[in-house]
Amino acid sequence: KKVVLAYSGGLDTSIIIKWLEENYGCEIVTFTADIGQGEEVEPAREKAKAAGVKEIYIEDLREEFVRDFVFPMFRANTIYEGEYLLGTSIARPLISKRLIEIANETGADAISHGATGKGNDQVRFELGAYALKPGVAIIAPWREWDLNSRESLMKYAEEHGIEIDYQKQGKKSPYSMDANLLHISYEGDILEDPWTEAEDDMWRWSVSPEQAPDEPTYIEIEYKKGDPVALNGEALSPATMLETLNKLGGDNGVGRLDIVENRYVGMKSRGCYETPGGTIMLKGHRSMESLTLDREVAHLKDSLMPKYAELIYNGYWWSPEREMMQKMIDESQQYVNGTVRLKLYKGSVTCVGRKSENSLFDEAIATFEDDEGSYNQADAEGFIKLNALRLRIASQKGRKLL
Ligand code: ARG
Ligand code: SIN
Repeated sequence: KKVVLAYSGGLDTSIIIKWLEENYGCEIVTFTADIGQGEEVEPAREKAKAAGVKEIYIEDLREEFVRDFVFPMFRANTIYEGEYLLGTSIARPLISKRLIEIANETGADAISHGATGKGNDQVRFELGAYALKPGVAIIAPWREWDLNSRESLMKYAEEHGIEIDYQKQGKKSPYSMDANLLHISYEGDILEDPWTEAEDDMWRWSVSPEQAPDEPTYIEIEYKKGDPVALNGEALSPATMLETLNKLGGDNGVGRLDIVENRYVGMKSRGCYETPGGTIMLKGHRSMESLTLDREVAHLKDSLMPKYAELIYNGYWWSPEREMMQKMIDESQQYVNGTVRLKLYKGSVTCVGRKSENSLFDEAIATFEDDEGSYNQADAEGFIKLNALRLRIASQKGRKLL
């Protein structure tokens, strides 16, 4: 019996190590990943060692996360319930994948995670794990143990000699937070009342729009096949691109969100999010597409987007329907090349310029000036009349609209 644990190095997952030993008597492999959460991952090595763990995996997955998960998702302009940019949702399939790969490498037959029994994360981790290793056993301590309060967790830690960083506990944020290169999220505590506004010192990645500079910041993003590849003329790796856009967006108060969303397990939950770079990327990508995509391709893509968003939110990244939709989305991106010019100003992102070698925009046709025969205005008369035919017939047959 061997289990791979998604280990953050924090108190909760340190307790899980001990609890797994006590309750399952199994050998434990820990897996800690840097996906841009902004906390050192190396300290997890010493902590895992101190807990007696022999196989310890610590990995920098930032580039893979952005290149293979965030970028493919942004090609679809994905938004859940009209607002949420899926910052947490899109990181889970990568964690599932590595948990299973490590299980296969180390001969483990089980995986474990620190998500609660009330949330989306458990579903995402486990759907991914089952899809990639159908016979895997899953241990979700939060669904089994009775350590359901901060006090009982602390008590368990003290009784089992787990080091508690009291200083860190002391200034521990009251919110349930989750961060990676795409976003930081806040849930719980005073946010549980959907009428209560978040305190301004909760936000960690951005200034408030009120405090943002009075001068706008202009940036240029170059796109290749729907992915941002260069910023202000400088080629950047996927992770560096997102990191840099987070900084620029955060400095200008871009990307704050305060929403109530529907969790897959059935409850509504209120959350606050900061997604500065993602908010810029969404605007940039849409602007690039507006110039380069065929109308029907764009509209079809848009009509499927909510479905694609829902499937990522609900944890079906590793599914045949996601693969199918991804192929279609990727196929649509071959001409999404060019440069957009964006203006960041006090919480807003506006596209103020766009250009592309693959532009479908034709000035000669669009112009209000004389267009030298490429578009014959007289043609529009028949176009409108034939489109009106069924409306006129219905009216003649007595179907009254007013
Ligand atoms: N509600 C968001 C989602 O389901 C964020 C979840 C944050 N997760 C966490 N463990 N705090 O994607
Ligand atoms: C959790 O319950 O672990 C966090 C919230 C969520 O997954 O939706």
